[in-house]
Amino acid sequence: MSEIKMTVNGKPVGGDVADNMLLVEFIRETLRLTGTHVGCDTSQCGACVVHVDGKAVKSCTMLAAAADGAEVTTIEGVANGDLHPMQKAFNDNHGLQCGFCTPGMIMSGIDMVNRYKAEGKTLDEAAIRHELEGNICRCTGYHNIVKSISQAAGEM
Ligand code: FES
Ligand code: FES
Repeated sequence: MSEIKMTVNGKPVGGDVADNMLLVEFIRETLRLTGTHVGCDTSQCGACVVHVDGKAVKSCTMLAAAADGAEVTTIEGVANGDLHPMQKAFNDNHGLQCGFCTPGMIMSGIDMVNRYKAEGKTLDEAAIRHELEGNICRCTGYHNIVKSISQAAGEM
């Protein structure tokens, strides 16, 4: 067991965790923040993406103990009063069907827009499709997800 402390969505949290507890288990089962999803056991689907110290991370690939001291943001933490521009863009463009992949798509989308802006690069359709390689959607065919991220990139 390890004692960990971190900030999740701006709030200090912590506790004793088993050394093999995954960050996604800590988020979902200990903190009860169930917007972060688990869609695979092979680290492929991206439904579990959160931000750790400002970077997108598949939370099923990280131990909770490894996030000790980190600033974590989950899908529950991205709206600030009003919807985040990425959430609004998914709503405007029908960027989801069943919604299972959507939290991870939104967290990955925010991360890619922030990275491209910081590097002064253009996030065009080809770049969005390339960046989405780690996020699987079983419903939409991706077209409206790409449109959503493209809209948000212009507004963020
Ligand atoms: S649950 Fe993490 S990548 Fe699928
Ligand atoms: S909307 Fe159903 S998996 Fe993407």
